[in-house]
Amino acid sequence: MLHRCDAVLFFLIGSAAAAAPPTQQRTRCQAAASPTQQTRRQALRYGVGGAAAWPLATAALPSDNAGALTTLRRRVGQKTLAQGSYGLDAPDVYYPDFFEGTWRVTSKAVEVSAPCGAPLFGGNASLAAARAELEAAPVVYEARWIRDGRGRLIADRPYNIGSIAAATMGGRDVLQQLPSSDAFDPNGLIFKLRPEGSEVTYRAELRALARRFEPSAGELRDSSGLLVFDAGELSRQSISLPGKDLVQPPSVKDIETINLFTRTKDGRITSTQRTSTWLVGTEGIAAMKAQAADGRAVDVRTYRVDYERLK
Ligand SMILES: *[C@@H]1O[C@H](CO)[C@@H](O)[C@H](O)[C@H]1NC(C)=O
Repeated sequence: MLHRCDAVLFFLIGSAAAAAPPTQQRTRCQAAASPTQQTRRQALRYGVGGAAAWPLATAALPSDNAGALTTLRRRVGQKTLAQGSYGLDAPDVYYPDFFEGTWRVTSKAVEVSAPCGAPLFGGNASLAAARAELEAAPVVYEARWIRDGRGRLIADRPYNIGSIAAATMGGRDVLQQLPSSDAFDPNGLIFKLRPEGSEVTYRAELRALARRFEPSAGELRDSSGLLVFDAGELSRQSISLPGKDLVQPPSVKDIETINLFTRTKDGRITSTQRTSTWLVGTEGIAAMKAQAADGRAVDVRTYRVDYERLK
């Protein structure tokens, strides 16, 4: 059951926050490496960012200098498994005007990787289910951007979460007590979740830990002259049964969603969305798993997301 919630919450988070060129290479697992090898590889991976990472970034995003355009594009291009260095830079993501309105969203999984192996990903069955997404039909839902009290354009997170639930979990009734679009806290969304066929209702909480968007003002264009906008958010996701302890581990995870948006010539928007999950060592088994992951993401997925305006 948890497993199923998990898969769905993944989508919820990705879209609530909001997604362009797909990345292909799988990250290699280092779980089997000896401690010495591991240290050296980690040094290569995390330490010498500049020289080692630069060719990787350009290789991953072949659209010429797209890899250099924003720090978030570089981060996606480098495929780093460590958490980002940005903080909670802003109270919400403030989008450029071209996002305004309601869009039909088509989301297709293009890559699933388990950098620390299947056991830390969540087991063979979870990994097989995630890889099956690569062959599955895209998920289609609606997303909306609205003005806040100060006229800034923000994602309507409650609406988007509800829309995805309807598309993936058997209807809007699956979610209860979602906050209203007029008054929600982008840094702390709490709602109830009852998957179709489930006997129990979970409490889900998404708490923002870090956020960045680029450009923070004005326009940014890629080398083709197309407008781009990139947003990254790290959220702590907790799932529990109301009044009880957290459900079986790992029920607390940190999930980063990076959306690299490009506005295409016909006014549509296309995006590469990358979602990375880190385990949080809350107790016993979860703590052991988090320690084994050693700061690396255990689950990394990439989606191609296309937006077509409805109104
Ligand atoms: C997972 O799959 C691997 C490789 O097929 C196998 O060796 C392992 O025993 C499986 N683990 C479980 C828990 O089923």
